[in-house]
Amino acid sequence: MATRPLLMATMNRHKLEEVRNILDNSGLMSHFTLMDMHDVGFTGDIPEVEMTLEGNARAKSMVGYNLSGFDCFADDTGLEVLSLGGAPGVHSARYAGEDADAGKNIDRLLSELKGFTNRKARFRTVISLLFEGDEFTFEGVVEGEILTERRGVKGFGYDPVFRPNGYSVSFGIMDAAEKNRISHRYQAIRKMATFLKQQINK
Ligand code: IMP
Repeated sequence: MATRPLLMATMNRHKLEEVRNILDNSGLMSHFTLMDMHDVGFTGDIPEVEMTLEGNARAKSMVGYNLSGFDCFADDTGLEVLSLGGAPGVHSARYAGEDADAGKNIDRLLSELKGFTNRKARFRTVISLLFEGDEFTFEGVVEGEILTERRGVKGFGYDPVFRPNGYSVSFGIMDAAEKNRISHRYQAIRKMATFLKQQINK
């Protein structure tokens, strides 16, 4: 059976592999040839200059579509903290400045939240999929709270200070497999997989 190309507008091979696993588990990999931006000859960085996760995801999927003409999707994720009015949100990767690393971003987050008793937060992933000329968006959310200090060293980004609701430990302590089963990214990708399944069964 011929497969159809499906491009993920990312330069991050780990993200592509996470998507591949989920599409595979949904029985979709016999229908699609999944590619990332390396595979269509793109070099450099995909700009992320929009003010919302939705805007960034759309801008990235448009870059991929315009370059390749293939159906294309992109994701954008942010940590949204209630007491900080949704910050760091779309600025999560660079909360402590352009050259910030995860350690500095966490330091800034903990310092901004000093004195707050409401530490509710959520990770939110938005996927923009350009499919047969139309845009479809999918969202995944994990609700939780920001701890007052780091717990664990697993994962990346804000994982050591984020405890998902219903769990006693942070993402920084959880096994990768367990985190991936409940993560914001996983939920958004699953929704896209369900959509793609409907499309190929039409
Ligand atoms: P991206 O859109 O996937 O590149 O995510 C933007 C930023 O959000 C990352 O640089 C991290 O700081 C943060 N982030 C996204 N996903 C996670 C996660 O699963 N755990 C911790 N931090 C995350």
